[in-house]
Amino acid sequence: MSIEQKIKELLEKRVEAKKGGGEKRMESQHSKGKFTARERIDMLLDEGSFEEFDMFVTHRTHDFGLEEQQFLGDGVVTGHGTIDGRVVYVFSQDFTVFGGSLSETFALKICKVMDQAMKVGAPVIGINDSGGARIQEGVRSLAGYAEIFQRNIMASGVIPQISAVFGPCAGGAVYSPALTDFVLMSENSSYMFVTGPKVTKTVTGEDISTEDLGGAWVHGTRSGVTHFVATNEEEGILLIRKLLSYLPQNNLEDPPLTECTDPINRLEDSLNQIIPENPNKPYDVLDIIHAIVDYGEFLEIQRHYAKNIVIGFAKFNGMPVGIVANQPNFLAGVLDIDASRKAARFVRFCDAFNIPIVTLVDVPGFLPGSGQEYGGIIIHGAKLLFAYGEATVPKVTVTLRKSYGGAHDVMGSKQLRGDINYAWPSAEIAVMGPAGAIEVLDGKNIQQIKDPQERAEYILKKEEEYRDKFANPYEAAKYGYIDDVIEPRNTRFRIIRALRALATKKDVNPPKKHSNIPL
Ligand code: HXC
Repeated sequence: MSIEQKIKELLEKRVEAKKGGGEKRMESQHSKGKFTARERIDMLLDEGSFEEFDMFVTHRTHDFGLEEQQFLGDGVVTGHGTIDGRVVYVFSQDFTVFGGSLSETFALKICKVMDQAMKVGAPVIGINDSGGARIQEGVRSLAGYAEIFQRNIMASGVIPQISAVFGPCAGGAVYSPALTDFVLMSENSSYMFVTGPKVTKTVTGEDISTEDLGGAWVHGTRSGVTHFVATNEEEGILLIRKLLSYLPQNNLEDPPLTECTDPINRLEDSLNQIIPENPNKPYDVLDIIHAIVDYGEFLEIQRHYAKNIVIGFAKFNGMPVGIVANQPNFLAGVLDIDASRKAARFVRFCDAFNIPIVTLVDVPGFLPGSGQEYGGIIIHGAKLLFAYGEATVPKVTVTLRKSYGGAHDVMGSKQLRGDINYAWPSAEIAVMGPAGAIEVLDGKNIQQIKDPQERAEYILKKEEEYRDKFANPYEAAKYGYIDDVIEPRNTRFRIIRALRALATKKDVNPPKKHSNIPL
């Protein structure tokens, strides 16, 4: 064969590989409102940056007539490219080839990019769209999944791992995305479950649709499995690009600094009035976040899940930070099981990847009641406590209003190695709120007052006394638990200066194999 013929052969093979499972199946993919594996990679990466690996890999199965059905690439497109000029590794499952099902060689392709990403220290982005284990390959497919899981585990805390789910993701296959740092699902076309509706019906009798069992909204609002719900794939891919702009390439690097033209000493007068006079009146903590961060830009994570706590990424003077904030607008910002788990995982992610944590506190306490106790609020609340106490990244805490009881300690307090702790003049830092405190301390006296009017006046007076004594920032500031009481409108500047001072912070935990966080 002449060299011209050899080059022609190569080009023909490339064309064949790019056809995936064939035009008909690609059309079927498009008709469902979905993109193909390659189209998704093209949208995700900087134009022309994709370098593909293993385009000529095929499966090795001879059963069920599979030897007659060979597709170059075998159902997954893998390689590396750049996002905003920074290297990332990708794999994108191709539903047009055996429904994107995972064969032994398919798994090896994914493992290859994961191994190389670990050596290079670059993020891995996986796009999932698959019928699960390739049935014809049996146990070899299961082994392939386990190889991927093991790599997910080794890469955890070393390189960022992001999973997009743009189609089915069922059975044990859901555990690879679950092991990664962030999961993104697309409305109406993606679903995740350990067992699908048919098996569910057989085993438990429950009759439930695919969407209701494991659709994007179920995981975005109820289970918290997905961190982002995108309205479509394009929006989802833009979100992944945005998310990466806050993250370092690996755990040995700092997050990327960008130039900032938003003045660092921008005064936000509105903040001086944002806390209502009535301590029981809510306000939206997102208004405060938007007012203080660079350009008002905040990438909220798990926006629709456990809305009583807000988490996400923003920048202060071009420096990425993770923000954790109680949300008085939802359940008064109380800490419950879901909120504790949500924030704990985020704090640990930030700590693993050297991202400073800014905490905005307005928390009335932990949610009381049998529902929470039976669900294990003790163990879940302890997760958040543990995460804060273990974190060695710079931690800046601003108490906006309430900071009561155990929740006060948890939310980035000084004694959990909070580095710089500020409070607004509206802060109330105490063991519990005035109403609860008076009930405990003075309940017997109150019961003895028979006249309702007189009783109400007595309670009000006692509450006022309590509030004057404890419900202010100065008791805590007196002991140095609060470093300074700051004017709300100056919060942006004070946080930026704190972060600047802490930029070279070094803190370590004692040597150990690993901690035993209450799971
Ligand atoms: C081999 C598969 C396949 C699979 C789909 N296909 N799933 N081939 N192994 N697991 C093939 C189909 O034969 C078909 O081939 C093509 O992919 C498209 O599938 P359709 O059924 O036509 O598509 P659709 O109607 O959109 O339905 C998609 C689906 C369904 C819901 C995913 O295919 C399905 O239920 N598949 C089985 C899912 C499953 O139970 N997987 C095992 C999960 S357990 P042609 O040639 O017609 O295009 C698991 C264990 C992992 O994964 C364990 C890890 C520890």
